[in-house]
Amino acid sequence: MYSITSFRRQRQLSVFGFFFAILFFYSCTERPDHQVRERLSINDGWRFFKYDDAKNADGLIYDVRSDIDEDIDQREADDQPVEGEWVEGEESVLKAWILPSGNDFIKDSAKRHVRPEGYPGFDFPFVQASFDDGNWEKVNLPHDWGAREPFTYEVSGSMGRLPSHGVAWYRRSLDVPSSDAGRQIYLEVEGAMSYAMVWLNGHLVGGWPYGYNSWQLDLTPYIIPGGKNQLAIRLDNPPISSRWYPGGGIYRNMWLIKTEPVHVGQWGTFITTRDVSEESAVVDLEVTIDNKSNENADVEIVTFIYELDLNGNRTGKRVIEFAPQSANVAAGTKTAVNSSVTIANPRLWGSLPTQIPNRYLAVTEVQKDGKVVDVFETPFGIRSLEFDAVNGLFLNGEHIYIKGVNQHHDLGPLGAAFNKRAAERQLEILREAGVNSIRMAHNPPAPELLELTDKMGFLVVNEVFDVWERRKVPFDFHLIFPDWYEQDLRSMVRRDRNHPSVIMWSYGNEVGEQYTGVDGAALSQKLNDILKDEDPTRPTTASMNFAKPDMPMPATMDIISLNYQGEGIRIHPGYEHLQGIRTHPLYSEFHETFPNKMIISSENAAALSIRGEYLFPVTPNSSAPVSDGIGGDSESLIVCAYELYTANFGSSVDRVFAAKAQHPFVAGGFVWSGWDYLGEPTPYYDARSTYFGIVDLAGFKKNRFYLYQSHWRPELPMAHILPHWNWPDRVGKVTPVHVFTSGDEAELFLNGVSLGRKKKGEYEYRLRWDDVVYEPGELKVVAYKNGEEWAQSFVKTTGAAESLNAEADRDRIKADGKDLSFVTISVTDEDGFVIPDAKHPLRFSIEGPGEIVATDSGDPRDFEAFPSNERNAFNGLSLVIVRGISGKPGIIRVMAESDGLKNAVAEIQTVR
Ligand code: GAL
Repeated sequence: MYSITSFRRQRQLSVFGFFFAILFFYSCTERPDHQVRERLSINDGWRFFKYDDAKNADGLIYDVRSDIDEDIDQREADDQPVEGEWVEGEESVLKAWILPSGNDFIKDSAKRHVRPEGYPGFDFPFVQASFDDGNWEKVNLPHDWGAREPFTYEVSGSMGRLPSHGVAWYRRSLDVPSSDAGRQIYLEVEGAMSYAMVWLNGHLVGGWPYGYNSWQLDLTPYIIPGGKNQLAIRLDNPPISSRWYPGGGIYRNMWLIKTEPVHVGQWGTFITTRDVSEESAVVDLEVTIDNKSNENADVEIVTFIYELDLNGNRTGKRVIEFAPQSANVAAGTKTAVNSSVTIANPRLWGSLPTQIPNRYLAVTEVQKDGKVVDVFETPFGIRSLEFDAVNGLFLNGEHIYIKGVNQHHDLGPLGAAFNKRAAERQLEILREAGVNSIRMAHNPPAPELLELTDKMGFLVVNEVFDVWERRKVPFDFHLIFPDWYEQDLRSMVRRDRNHPSVIMWSYGNEVGEQYTGVDGAALSQKLNDILKDEDPTRPTTASMNFAKPDMPMPATMDIISLNYQGEGIRIHPGYEHLQGIRTHPLYSEFHETFPNKMIISSENAAALSIRGEYLFPVTPNSSAPVSDGIGGDSESLIVCAYELYTANFGSSVDRVFAAKAQHPFVAGGFVWSGWDYLGEPTPYYDARSTYFGIVDLAGFKKNRFYLYQSHWRPELPMAHILPHWNWPDRVGKVTPVHVFTSGDEAELFLNGVSLGRKKKGEYEYRLRWDDVVYEPGELKVVAYKNGEEWAQSFVKTTGAAESLNAEADRDRIKADGKDLSFVTISVTDEDGFVIPDAKHPLRFSIEGPGEIVATDSGDPRDFEAFPSNERNAFNGLSLVIVRGISGKPGIIRVMAESDGLKNAVAEIQTVR
């Protein structure tokens, strides 16, 4: 039998001896019959109940809240946050039992929380196994209780007019065979919105208030192996808790983790790489062993590295192994061990399109008394990053300009319930525009989204908070900040630190502490230091829309992240009269004050439009704040899609591009926003969703998408004309034509007659023919680059609506109850041209082993509920999202019909 002393001796042997040791380790180790670590999905089979009125819900509350009933609808996004508001209550609250759940993330052991005596709620029926939940709704996770409901004006525009607020319970029994006796059993929750509290068999186990972080609870003390195990989870979403649609429910995956008492701890590996070149790279590994047994444990740890292919599958080729480590882990404690290896000729992880997102897999085995007691897998990548204040970002030595977008976490018509395919589609469409980076605004994403960014080669700014102590809305995170900031910061890093796509940590967005001088800066420093303590390898940042170079906050972070301040706020012609933050362009001043800090614009543009809607006249300026008569109409709630109009504090895309070109030290930035998202319907609060996206809520591209593509993918021959050319009421009227092209020059033709050839001037990003007089027919553009013909495109006046057309983004999907096909329904004329202003009422139906999950049109004013099978086309298009039934492969037929038009059918095959 393998012994610790022999193991230690072997560590001193030669290199040859080391490899022999590995061989010996492998051949002599006893392997248990069952998998030592199991990670079982418990997404299916839940029962769900939501109180009609949260005010009449049970009293099992996390903490008391004030009665504020403010209307936050008219809050401007960049209004100054105000003093936080906390109230002391008489009622008994459960906070004291929940706080210990975060103890692993509190560094100072003196500050960890001691669980009080007792089991609050023990007698409450919902937590009892005997309670009959047979008439509760059956649901599977991920589940968002808000997005399936009708829109309602009872919910603020900010929160998307969907009822994500309220108090609800989830119940499920757990399958724990008697053979699990003696094992550790954990509940892993990737995200529950919010104030989650978990009972098992009547015992309050713990919980986690912040809805965006992932967390784990140790169920072991309350589990009955071989018995009935009843899990009950209570969630509570305050009504005015967010500036966007947060979703409500267990909206990400949930897992049951089973391990031996001695095992790799939660998120217990940390892999970093250094001295990276094409010839070699040093990989540093830290493994934390958690000994939950009553005895001290002597363990040996060995980690092997394998290659992963580009789909994330292990290739079988073992690359190298770390020298075996041994450790004595005292009963009830954790111990970390460190080791390093050098990999020759590493396959580096890089961002597309110029590099390849290669990854490796570290497989860590823990052995005790000659038995393997845990096997833990950590995918990772090897890459070098430099954050240069003058030249920008370097990834593996190559300069990468950050072409980024901000993304909120919702998936449009699917609400907040995470779906990997829906998120992948978002990334695929963004990539087409040339996007290479995502800022997770303003909270950690679903873990699967980071798997996607790793695999697809995107760079990520992982952000944790939108507020600290000062609040933006009455019941936002400020209420729990004092108790939970450390736990949420550390848990974000521990969960996400091995993802090669994550390049920096952001600990705040436009926080109110920008306004509180040295006090705010001290808090910023404290948060920064926590991140540094967790991960010294990545830079930190917090986005600033107010703090100036001479204020104390910017000095506290590694990277200067500016929201809108680089381009200047409310100072350009047409913006000067607006109330709110006002500043001249600040890139240069920040650069001079912080010559060693890299600068990014963490938010820029805040441009607005609805896909395919136009208002006339068109501003002659290159950027204008939207208002009635200037690109907007507060009655019809339209913002015009010439892509020149912005929020009061924003700047058009054209101005942002120019500002970047004039300040080449800026490493790039993130557009506000990539996709439209639910809530924050700026500028018209009567809408349901935002107007900021370069892609609409259904995933259809706005004109702005092509403006980005023309600039970010200069090698792609393309030209995009706007507006459409169906204007029966504008015959003889001036109807400006704008062209976005990756060429530098273009000639426009109306019905074959040239309207002139134009060239982009310095800092110009579009070509404008502003005095075109409308006549029906065909508008054609021929673009040139360096004098050579480069791309062509046209728009034409279409005929009458004749047919519907249905096109699935994928006609073969998995029959796993998760995979999705996105079917675009378009209204076309007899030649198959999409009618750009068609708004026909459509009906959808489905045959075969599939279901329609949601439909949408992308119109921020579309208040048809997402699950509806009827919807008006919006400017020619509509979307039907279809899912196969789990375990039932077959052919699905998705039908669309509309009176007087030919029907359309899309056929989708679902496969095992
Ligand atoms: C910013 C804010 C974002 C969003 C955006 C809208 O001020 O950070 O969350 O509200 O404005 O443009």
